[in-house]
Amino acid sequence: MEKKIALIPGDGIGPDIVHEGTRVLDAVAAKFGHKFTYETVLAGGAAIDKFGEPLPQASLDTCLKADSVLLGAVGGPKWDNVPGNLRPEKALLGLRGGMKVYANLRPALMFKQLSAACPLKDEIVGTGLDILIVRELTGGIYFGERGRNAENTEAWDTERYSKPEIERILRLGFESAQKRQKKLCVVDKANILESSRMWREVAESIKDDYKDVELSFMYVDNAAMQLVRNPRQFDVIATSNMFGDILSDEASQITGSIGMLASASLGDGTGPGLYEPIHGSAPDIAGKDIANPLATILSCAMLLRYDFGMEEEARCIENAVEKVLDEGWRTGDIAGSSIDEVKAAGKLVGTKKMGDLVIQMIG
Ligand code: NAD
Ligand code: IPM
Ligand code: MN
Repeated sequence: MEKKIALIPGDGIGPDIVHEGTRVLDAVAAKFGHKFTYETVLAGGAAIDKFGEPLPQASLDTCLKADSVLLGAVGGPKWDNVPGNLRPEKALLGLRGGMKVYANLRPALMFKQLSAACPLKDEIVGTGLDILIVRELTGGIYFGERGRNAENTEAWDTERYSKPEIERILRLGFESAQKRQKKLCVVDKANILESSRMWREVAESIKDDYKDVELSFMYVDNAAMQLVRNPRQFDVIATSNMFGDILSDEASQITGSIGMLASASLGDGTGPGLYEPIHGSAPDIAGKDIANPLATILSCAMLLRYDFGMEEEARCIENAVEKVLDEGWRTGDIAGSSIDEVKAAGKLVGTKKMGDLVIQMIG
């Protein structure tokens, strides 16, 4: 198959991890007889520097015309003091909204090889963790009305959801649960927020379509606590834009490192999806060749699976990552408490070498 992928390297570690992602995609293409072509587009700080805005229309247009979109990360201290609507992060909202990718799948999967990097006790994580966070991505407080009063003494952001927006994300949550352990937990703040109460109402109104799925509700403060107390109780978590953002960072660390957690942002299937690691541009480690590229590489696997229907190719990447971890290779973030042994074995590697290893395993 021949496919066109739009690339948004972005800022900080973004270009380096996206580079490893495309090298891995090329290795898969060579092995399976596909051809992937790439068009690089500017967004985030890189676009602000060149065009004075975080997401030029031409960048969005290129993404919309591509078969799929791979993004590194945007943002950094250089642009922290520009006005809010011109910040690099605004590019993400423009892309997500513009591409209408309302469903963000964030699989928090703990590779058993990484138990030394998990901050929880062995008896809590047991044989591993496999939680899917289904995060609403184009609504809620990220997209609600915001502003300041004329005197600049007050500011506000609004959490707003319509029933159709809630229903489509919850249906995806139910359907995902049907393919997994058949448990869906809707996380909200229904003891306070009217919008959360509407999430519960919608969930109740459609649950009979998914009689094989056990539905539960949990307040987000409790969910944050339960994730470290007993993460194995969760199968699929469906939640709003902001709660999903926060809980997925928490879940990532439980599985070893934020450098491992991939994501897919999907719409109604008529346009391309957007694939990105859940972490940011990591300015503290940018330019040092130490960032973990695996979250991006695993996002490439999701890209092949969801946008191109290439299940075998996606598994090939995931298996290659498993094998690299099996052999003991680690970037610093996933070495955890075994860092001394990893170093002594000469298996502490940087971004490029980790990419090389995955490519070798793809063969
Ligand atoms: P971050 O995720 O960039 O970094 C948090 C911590 O995790 C840092 O210590 C970083 O070094 C580490 N880390 C992140 N990715 C890693 C990797 N692949 N390998 C090893 N370590 C890794 O979050 P932050 O510091 O809060 O944000 C930095 C910038 O990134 C901000 O401008 C923020 O707005 C932006 N951001 C962008 C995205 C995105 O583009 N999707 C996501 C989150 C944050
Ligand atoms: C993420 C990021 C973004 C978000 C920011 C940078 C806008 O944290 O993708 O998780 O909050 O969605
Ligand atoms: Mn986030």
